[in-house]
Amino acid sequence: MTDTLNDQWQALKTLHATHKNREMLSLFDSDTQRAADFSADSHDMLLDYSKTNIDSGIRDALLALAQAADVTAKRDQMFAGAVINETEGRAVLHTALRNLDGDPVLVDGMDVLPEVRATLERMGDYADAVRVSDITDVVNIGIGGSDLGPAMAVQALSPYHDGPRVHFVSNVDGADVSDTLRGLDAKTTLVIVASKTFTTIETMTNARTARAWMLDGGGDPNAQFAALSTSDEKTAEFGIPPERVFGFEDWVGGRYSVWGPIGLSLMIGIGRRAFYAFLRGAQAMDVHFCAATGVENLPLMHALVGIWHNQICGHGTRAVLPYDQRLGKLPAYFQQLEMESNGKSVAMDGTALGRHSGPVVWGAPGTNGQHAFYQLIHQGTRVIPCEFLIAAEGHEPDLAHHHQLLVANCLAQSEALMRGRSMDDARSRMADKGLSGAELERQAAHRVFAGNRPSVTIAYPKLDPFVLGQIIALYEHRVFVEGVILGLNSYDQWGVELGKELATALQPVVEGTESVEGKDGSTQALVGFVQRHRT
Ligand code: F6P
Repeated sequence: MTDTLNDQWQALKTLHATHKNREMLSLFDSDTQRAADFSADSHDMLLDYSKTNIDSGIRDALLALAQAADVTAKRDQMFAGAVINETEGRAVLHTALRNLDGDPVLVDGMDVLPEVRATLERMGDYADAVRVSDITDVVNIGIGGSDLGPAMAVQALSPYHDGPRVHFVSNVDGADVSDTLRGLDAKTTLVIVASKTFTTIETMTNARTARAWMLDGGGDPNAQFAALSTSDEKTAEFGIPPERVFGFEDWVGGRYSVWGPIGLSLMIGIGRRAFYAFLRGAQAMDVHFCAATGVENLPLMHALVGIWHNQICGHGTRAVLPYDQRLGKLPAYFQQLEMESNGKSVAMDGTALGRHSGPVVWGAPGTNGQHAFYQLIHQGTRVIPCEFLIAAEGHEPDLAHHHQLLVANCLAQSEALMRGRSMDDARSRMADKGLSGAELERQAAHRVFAGNRPSVTIAYPKLDPFVLGQIIALYEHRVFVEGVILGLNSYDQWGVELGKELATALQPVVEGTESVEGKDGSTQALVGFVQRHRT
């Protein structure tokens, strides 16, 4: 780490020590323009981070940190196709998948855009053909990035869905494939096998089961299977003809792949035009990320607020709370995006990170979460920075009053987190209820809200394909900036390998064809339990 970078981390720690007990509300008193000053917007999307303890001094220090980490130069390298995924020796170019009309992007001296656009066209032609065919149901079989992106987006964009029904199978648990295929007609179902590597054991197991199901049900796997992968060889081995294979390159990470072939099920569902609008939204965020400077830059500021809360204030988790029912799968999608990208203990050069990695990301849609886990967010002992997402309007004009209630709830939560409720206020409420003395004190204590808890709100006009593209790209770039500042590689995922290796080795042990000897006592006992209790 450079001395300047180190100095900036130290400066931020000092600022935190000085200001950590300050009331956020007081920042609004001293700056009547705070809401405008501490927000940024791009294409009608607003990022409001005014309900945090960040003031202009802290913000300057955060921006200086980004500068010391060379975020701008690294951003340009990423967009230009440099090998920034150093541990895998790959470029990181998911942005090329939505680069619908930009300048050439070179990898090994070759412009990748013609191929990207040709594949997109081929996907569009295929999607059009499926949409007018007898296919009634599409089943996407994939896991991780080959599942979460399209599954999240299909749900998010259901008002735009006018194609065949789309289903998702991801878990190797037979319950998933079995429950999904039950009730579908094998003769009118298209199965899309989505796997970047085409080796993932869960996906290949489910794909083989689906093929057997199709044959049993009188369908034709030779005509009703398509593949999305980087491996032509493996898709051919599986028996999927090249005209139904949609390929992409290794410079697209799994969790960043919804923009290309992995988005085929979404494209079939919402149609080519709406899918392009989705790409346009992401492209608009890319252009903004590259052009907007300093405080104007949404992904940069979103990342810096994240760094402030996690690495400086020490809040180790972050709640994603969409007040948008159709974004129900967004927290899970962001979990992979953020935790697989920035959940690392070593810096790019292999040395220890020296500070915490990215946070635990979790959440669920409001208002449901309010009636479940918000209790802890408001009164638990840990501070959990919250990220609220809210649309100005919904898709149900007849139910506008529902939407207004939804908005009121969203805004009330961030207000409550910041404002809290003092002991005096709680006491006077208990007095109004007729309590007094020790019982009043006891009851009042339970009704105190510490307040001063930070949140960020992302507001947008309506959850349409363009906006969904913006939201995802905003978070992708936020992860990039945080990764650069932490000095780690956001684009590998070695942490998933050990479990995979051990599972492969344990399969014959569980089946009983290999001995459990040599395993630890707990694993031996668990294998024994399973073997004794299965019929
Ligand atoms: O094991 C993790 C992972 O590699 C993810 O990064 C990826 O999204 C997922 O598995 C699925 O991989 P594939 O698309 O190659 O089947």
